[in-house]
Amino acid sequence: MTRAYDNWERLMAAVVKKLQLWELFHQHSRSPSICSQESESSDPSGFSSSQRLRVTCRRPEDVKEKETASTVEGSIHMSPRTFTFRELSAATDNFRPDLILGEGGFGRLYKGRLKGTQQIVAVKQIDENRGQGNRVFLVEVLMLSTLHHPNMVNLIGYCADGDHRLLVHEYMPFGSLDDRLHDLSTEKPPLDWNTRMKVAAGVAKCLAYLHDAAKPPIIHRNVKSSNILLGEGYHPKLSHFGLAKLGPTGGKTHVSTRVMGTPGYCAPEYAMTGQLSVKADVYSYGVVLLEMLTGRRAIDNSRAIEETNLVAWASPLFKEPRKLVQMADPMLQGRYPIRGLTQALGIAATCLLTDPDARPSMADVATAINYIVSHNSSPETASTRV
Ligand SMILES: Nc1ncnc2c1ncn2[C@@H]1O[C@H](COP(=O)(O)OP(=O)(O)O)[C@@H](O)[C@H]1O
Ligand SMILES: [Mg+2]
Repeated sequence: MTRAYDNWERLMAAVVKKLQLWELFHQHSRSPSICSQESESSDPSGFSSSQRLRVTCRRPEDVKEKETASTVEGSIHMSPRTFTFRELSAATDNFRPDLILGEGGFGRLYKGRLKGTQQIVAVKQIDENRGQGNRVFLVEVLMLSTLHHPNMVNLIGYCADGDHRLLVHEYMPFGSLDDRLHDLSTEKPPLDWNTRMKVAAGVAKCLAYLHDAAKPPIIHRNVKSSNILLGEGYHPKLSHFGLAKLGPTGGKTHVSTRVMGTPGYCAPEYAMTGQLSVKADVYSYGVVLLEMLTGRRAIDNSRAIEETNLVAWASPLFKEPRKLVQMADPMLQGRYPIRGLTQALGIAATCLLTDPDARPSMADVATAINYIVSHNSSPETASTRV
């Protein structure tokens, strides 16, 4: 069972108890690089300065596994441990260039193997020279230490050794959804219809959890196909929580904040006015769902100008029911149930409505996608267009 927190203070109290990260907060409260980067709050995720306390981080050998394990919907969850920089250098063979898995906005990601347990991990080295690096590190550690869901990536540990900031996540053997949709090869065949719907359902459940488990809700702010990672059996997990933000409280509809996120996925009201609500995640989810259904990238500069932006290309087609089938990803080779496709396109269209209030909640989206999964997933229906 997932756990609901009635308010942010209780959530933070749980973090203090579990992780004792306050020394880092204390350090950063004196650091101008983490403060005053957003107009309405100087803290990573909306914490007040009075909540910054001082403690020490426990070394890995001090952490007893029995103390730190908890169960989330049948799977064992371990609280993150601390690593020294030396341990992570050893795990990545001194950050060997051929172990680089990718490079995102905040630093490089390496495949590594932990000495001792031999566990394969993904080690992200946050580049301290990139703006927001410390903030992203802290928010990621706090979020992934406190919130747990089967469709959220696991944080195995972190390193805050001197100026080094590294995150150690579970290694996801099938890479990202982005790789699996847009970077195909003989070793990476296209995803079939059932797998796409299973991925869509898992991500929707995770976002519904983030929006509903904590009060105020947690807005991910960076939902995109490269942040959806695929494990064994293509089990999807949402990653990259460093830009997450607390949603509005006290009956307000939005928080006003600096615009972050990725072009092509960012909700129009947020991109234009900085007004952020959970419905911004719903919009970004709609873009990802559309990518899965059409096989097109959110922004594709190699296409004709009127087809560069996926949502702009799709919007007029949503209004023409007879053209919906033409939107399907050619890589599906017609192997999808037509009714399931039109239902899924309908869900994407409502997620992408310009008016945020008209978009559905993620809980409703999860229910609707589950309906498609349960009604259209037999091999017979998924192997034909009738
Ligand atoms: N935990 C992981 N396990 C395996 N591969 C990963 C993991 N996290 C990210 N990746 C791969 O590395 C790439 C870069 O990830 P990241 O550094 O988070 O940047 P971005 O999300 O901006 O692409 C991803 O697109 C994905 O292919
Ligand atoms: Mg990422």
